[in-house]
Amino acid sequence: ATAQVGVVGLAVMGSNLARNFARHGYRVAVYNRTGAKTDELVRAHGDEGTFVPSAGLAGFVASLERPRRVVIMVKAGGPTDAVIDELVPLLEPGDIVVDGGNAHFPDTVRREAALAEKGLHFVGAGISGGEEGALNGPSIMPGGPAASYAALGPMLEEISAHVDGVPCCTHVGPDGAGHFVKMVHNGIEYADMQLIAEAYDLMRHALGATPSELAQVFADWNAGDLDSFLIEITAEVLAHTDAETGKALVDVIVDEAGQKGTGRWTVQAALDLGVPVTGIAEATFARAVSSSVPQRRAARDLPAHVGTWDVADRDGFVEDVRKALYASKVVAYSQGFDQIAAASAEYGWDIDRGAMARIWRGGCIIRATFLDRITEAYQRDPGLPLLIADPYFADAVGEGVAAWRRIVSLAALNGVPAPAFSSSLAYYDALRAERLPAALVQAQRDFFGAHTYRRVDKDGTYHTLWSEDRREVVA
Ligand code: 6PG
Repeated sequence: ATAQVGVVGLAVMGSNLARNFARHGYRVAVYNRTGAKTDELVRAHGDEGTFVPSAGLAGFVASLERPRRVVIMVKAGGPTDAVIDELVPLLEPGDIVVDGGNAHFPDTVRREAALAEKGLHFVGAGISGGEEGALNGPSIMPGGPAASYAALGPMLEEISAHVDGVPCCTHVGPDGAGHFVKMVHNGIEYADMQLIAEAYDLMRHALGATPSELAQVFADWNAGDLDSFLIEITAEVLAHTDAETGKALVDVIVDEAGQKGTGRWTVQAALDLGVPVTGIAEATFARAVSSSVPQRRAARDLPAHVGTWDVADRDGFVEDVRKALYASKVVAYSQGFDQIAAASAEYGWDIDRGAMARIWRGGCIIRATFLDRITEAYQRDPGLPLLIADPYFADAVGEGVAAWRRIVSLAALNGVPAPAFSSSLAYYDALRAERLPAALVQAQRDFFGAHTYRRVDKDGTYHTLWSEDRREVVA
């Protein structure tokens, strides 16, 4: 046994992760069900480090030092279970199995429990950063038993991205915590992308700006508070011309957004936990609306009664959009962190939110300068109930709120959909409101279903006898 770590599944993510380990000086056992992929990896990249290829899983396991560290990089769901089932009988107590795919966290909880019974450590690790990240340094969110982190963590930290010398990897929490946090990362990714898309769309409509002009706007924004990977690639995408037509590429791409499911999981989990992640939900539904082809066709001629854009101060409008984007983004992250806190409490994960913001600063898709501000906010107050109430973010959002209102109003008046911008503003205003019409909803529920209500002026639960003499009784 000579290999220090093994990777099963050598599609692009797996082989890039194996290469990343090898480039850091680790001897890496590699195995793929179709042996040709293993051969190809060793042939093309064997000079990058030490690979120990195996044609069979038993040989692969035998090639690993103990405790064995096996990283599974296959499709989430059935394929992952199939590999685990085949692998487990070959392993010995103390060995560590890492699932680096985008697993649904309940699957991770289930697998961790099953492997724990056999004395094996199962680590569901969220890995973000796409192919490039896997090779050059991803953000890694490992969950699972804390004990396994001693043998595994230093290795993962080494191959992860680093920001200011700090690794973008830390132990997230027990069983499903790592994959849960990765899932919320993806939900936030959806919100971020949708917000950027709405900003772009509004500027195109309002200013009649071309994609290449807007590429410059995003490039400028990337030099400020919004500095992030997604803003940066947006500038690059908008600047890109289609070779065939000579048009902006963005104008020849079909406007129906796909999804592999992590955004949907985030929203489903948020519904179960009762956490309003409105920004992520709107972003997920916006993809669904875009792909609702028959409905979009049927709606094409519906009355619009829209105004006409009349923007005198173009720079002022762009600045308003930037502020609206920043404020909405802060709301989306605030909601995502609320979801992490709720799950952490529900499942006893004890997740450090500041540490999550820290490991998202590099490597992952939502990497952004402003994550430093989030880490600082949770350092100031680890129990912070609301990220936008932290003094820094309260100021930042407060500074932009007037612009945010102007942009959301103009979008509505001129018939440009801005669901993530507007729902984030509505969420902000709902939280701020002294009284919400939820009181009326409670009364309605009591009317038709005797669901009872509480009063503002005394303790207890009450019911009004709506269908009798409308006396109030203690419920
Ligand atoms: C990442 C990405 C990655 C993947 C998304 C795409 O963190 O590296 O999030 O996991 O690209 O899952 O998701 P959709 O296909 O759902 O947009």
